[in-house]
Amino acid sequence: TWTPDAFAETTVAELREKIGNDKVILGLSGGVDSTVAAVLLHQAIGKHLHCIFVNNGLLRKNEFQEVLDQYEHMGLNVKGVDASKLFLDALKGEADPEKKRKIIGRIFIDVFDDEAHKVEDAKWLGQGTIYPDVIESVSATGGPSATIKSHHNVGGLPDYMKLKVVEPLKMLFKDEVRRVGASLGIPDERLGRHPFPGPGLAIRILGDITPEKVEILQEVDHVFIKGLVDWGLYDQIWQAGAILLPVQSVGVMGDERTYEKCVALRAVESTDGMTADWVHLPYEFMQKISNDIINKVPGVNRVVYDISSKPPATIEWE
Ligand code: XMP
Repeated sequence: TWTPDAFAETTVAELREKIGNDKVILGLSGGVDSTVAAVLLHQAIGKHLHCIFVNNGLLRKNEFQEVLDQYEHMGLNVKGVDASKLFLDALKGEADPEKKRKIIGRIFIDVFDDEAHKVEDAKWLGQGTIYPDVIESVSATGGPSATIKSHHNVGGLPDYMKLKVVEPLKMLFKDEVRRVGASLGIPDERLGRHPFPGPGLAIRILGDITPEKVEILQEVDHVFIKGLVDWGLYDQIWQAGAILLPVQSVGVMGDERTYEKCVALRAVESTDGMTADWVHLPYEFMQKISNDIINKVPGVNRVVYDISSKPPATIEWE
């Protein structure tokens, strides 16, 4: 029978055998898959694994620094690259969801490639591809799902990076990846993290993106996610986040009428992201969180909750 301990042990031995003294480059995202792949490779080849963690300026509040610190603490040889300005400049004025994804994908490849070239004589590209990614990239050859994940990690290797690919998690499902991660001693906080899309907050800011909008959404998202953790709700939820709507509405603060932004909160339960139901969050929680958001985040005067299931809605709004 399959056990995470045995998988980790065999995989580390196989990786060591396969890679020998070569150098491997791997892009870390803060997510479960890339983290577990990195730790397996690190155990196999140590400092010959060169990890690159790119800040696209569209991550959650404080996420870049916190996750980078955690990776360093885990002993990974990781380079953090803050390319926020490049991404935000390139996105300026663009409101089309698929174009936003393409821009982010393109800049990511540029930044990653620049960094990869700094690692002399690298032979391999490590990837956190898991089994469902493999299936999806095979089936996504033209149907609606072909465009859904245009910034996904499968097949994203530009051919000018002449590296061999090593994908230690290719045969695993998500729950197995989490179990392997736990057996490797990766903190629960990292393994239990909700999925977060590659294009990040860019697809949760409907319409065009500005640094001010990113900051507002980061604050709202932070209050929401911290609230879920504090109330013990986070771990029961597949994925949660906030969406900044391209809508202003009238409100009142003191004697003044306001005309400010509206945010939608989304929390879903799911097993694979393919179908999803909205979570019946406690009313007391929603009352508290809506007050907190409006009181703490300047520029927002209205909070709504998304009660659509997938299908026909999607988890993200773009
Ligand atoms: P949807 O919105 O299609 O999302 O119901 C299903 C899952 O996929 C994530 N998602 C993405 N992940 N790049 C990604 O890496 C993307 O462009 C992207 N779009 C959606 C979404 O967060 C959810 O987990």
